[in-house]
Amino acid sequence: MVQRFAAGVMLTFSLALVACGGGDVQDEGSGEAAEVASAPATPGQAIFERSCFACHTIGGGDLVGPDLKDVHQRREHDWLVRWIQDPLGMAQTDPIGIELLAQYKVPMAPNFLTEEEIELVLEYITAVSDGTLTTAAVEDEGPVELSEERFAEAQEIYFNRCAGCHGTLRAGATGPNIQPEITTQRGTAVLKATLTHGLPGGMPAWGDAGILTDAQIDLMARYVQLPPPAPPARPMSVIRESWRLIVPANRRPSAPVTQRNWQNYFGLVLRDAGQVAIIDGDTKERVTIINTGFAVHILRASSSGRYFYVVGRDGKVSLIDLWPETPTLVAEVQGCADARSVDGSKYEGYEDRYLIEGCYWPTQYVVFDGLTLEPLHVQSVEGATFDTGEELSEVRVAAIVASHFDPIWVLGLKESGHVGIVDYSKPGFPLVSRIPAERFLHDGGWDHTGRYFLIAANMRDKMAVVDVQEQRLVTTFETGIRPHPGRGANWEDPEYGWVNATVHIGQGLLTVYGADPVGRPDVAWRVVRRVEFTGTGSLFLKTHPNSPWVWMDMPLNNDPEGARQACVYSKSEGAVERCWSIGPRGAAVHFEYNRAGDEVWVSLWDKQGEVVVYDDKTLTEKTRITGDWVVTPTGKFNVYNTAHDIY
Ligand code: HEC
Ligand code: HEC
Repeated sequence: MVQRFAAGVMLTFSLALVACGGGDVQDEGSGEAAEVASAPATPGQAIFERSCFACHTIGGGDLVGPDLKDVHQRREHDWLVRWIQDPLGMAQTDPIGIELLAQYKVPMAPNFLTEEEIELVLEYITAVSDGTLTTAAVEDEGPVELSEERFAEAQEIYFNRCAGCHGTLRAGATGPNIQPEITTQRGTAVLKATLTHGLPGGMPAWGDAGILTDAQIDLMARYVQLPPPAPPARPMSVIRESWRLIVPANRRPSAPVTQRNWQNYFGLVLRDAGQVAIIDGDTKERVTIINTGFAVHILRASSSGRYFYVVGRDGKVSLIDLWPETPTLVAEVQGCADARSVDGSKYEGYEDRYLIEGCYWPTQYVVFDGLTLEPLHVQSVEGATFDTGEELSEVRVAAIVASHFDPIWVLGLKESGHVGIVDYSKPGFPLVSRIPAERFLHDGGWDHTGRYFLIAANMRDKMAVVDVQEQRLVTTFETGIRPHPGRGANWEDPEYGWVNATVHIGQGLLTVYGADPVGRPDVAWRVVRRVEFTGTGSLFLKTHPNSPWVWMDMPLNNDPEGARQACVYSKSEGAVERCWSIGPRGAAVHFEYNRAGDEVWVSLWDKQGEVVVYDDKTLTEKTRITGDWVVTPTGKFNVYNTAHDIY
């Protein structure tokens, strides 16, 4: 039910109804709701609803932040003003602020209010606390049925924008559980505010960033209050039907035909266009664009570098041959309904022979012939959690790496918390080991020797270290709020020897830890540096053996200006050298070096996107790759560096 106010503001919620923190939802019939007066919206109320509502109630219990009822009695007025002006700074320097942050774990987002607006919003909070102003409000209408068409639209947005973090069944991973038990407690209005402005722990600001329209946000707020639809299974028979061999192996060139330096090609993901652009890293020319299908996620180079494997979030795998005059799509197949990762076989004697795809849904991995993508085997990874033994119906295969020393792939099994080892030299490509590690494994890569696999358990704020040679967990340790290293970064620190590092979704923080158990056992797998910078929402860091820097992004920052920043850490100084905005729109995301390691490419992720190329030594801009075709560029993968796991 919706009520209109004199001011013409349409309000669909009630502060009194925001029963949270595990409290019961009060429905329309409850006495409290009926008593709510339809007072006109005050300016303070409008500010509260726009800037505070996603995280706070006044008398409705804690949300992300504390219940603000009577906050004017427990804090000085002056303190409140300073807090709202600079919550991040206060949470680091002020004794009360430090305590609050320790208790609520995530920092309050900066809000950019003027002093006058702060006074108005505080007046409003005081008036509601004192009961002199009843919140202008109406009943939350609760979950409503959606038409089939609207449900399908929401399902697609969810799959495209949300499933990656919250899970296909919404059970949570990088983001929390958002099944109806939780979302119906929040109510439509809080959900809309959350979706519009984001949350500091890494929930993007879909509305403020202009990615979802108001109508889409309204739709998604309703959709997440309904039970998630069950996605279909994908057995071998269905996978086989999807297999298309476009150019058989014996009709492909036996030596490189192209005159270009194909080992310095970059495969650039054009995410929303469902395409991959192949760019000549020497000349920066676009060599070709290949249609690979919906929501491309990553590319991997085959062991020899000759082929690019592309995986889309819809589970489709594309095989691109880089040796012809123009790179050519030679095969495709869809092993999963939802996927994030692939990798080829890299052990001696198996180069380019097999390919594995890890599924987010169904709960399985699929092995293909590396030259044709003929599906060879499907294996379920269902199982119990490593710690509580709870049987799970959703175990997603997250990061995959291929060993250079054994015929194995190493898989992060997200929900069960195992690192799985698949032996591709054995018949049936069996999962030969499940190493207990930590729950919600997400992304990771090799240490500098290629013996240890370092993977983030981002909901547990930890990194897990697995000795792949001995197939055992070495240790887990805390790094910060929601680590997200991508494949990570390896370098020699002047003080601590070989290190590896991660950035964080929930915090502006580079955490560096020792990674040389032989040379420096005193600091191995222990945090040696915590380097803070301004802004949450980082996804990737990257370096190269020839580079003095480590590059860091923050594309999920809920301040759009922040999301455009790239930061550079100096290996020799042990400090952030500089942060700057790489463009006027979109978000700066993901770095890749050229083969020589003297150039860095950064994507400006936007409908009208760009790839900015920097001279790595001087950090000066060399060129911008632009054009109508540069639609939502995200990851980019250099053939040589990806084939050789240089990062
Ligand atoms: C994205 C979530 C978020 C938003 C938006 C937000 N806050 Fe907060 N707020 C928090 C969190 C979390 C805390 C707890 C302290 C911390 O960890 O920073 C907090 C703490 C506070 C406190 C201190 C409470 C106490 O008990 O001392 C006040 C006051 C406050 N917020 C006011 C506001 C106002 C006013 C707005 C809107 C202008 C706002 N907040 C917007 C998350 C948020
Ligand atoms: C990059 C990861 C990411 C993506 C993508 C993402 N979220 Fe989130 N989301 C989070 C995180 C992390 C939180 C918790 C943030 C916090 O507590 O500060 C969150 C919180 C939420 C919440 C609040 C949960 C609660 O307990 O109140 C809702 C609702 C939500 N997300 C819905 C969505 C929807 C719908 C989409 C797609 C449009 C989406 N999210 C996309 C990471 C993500």
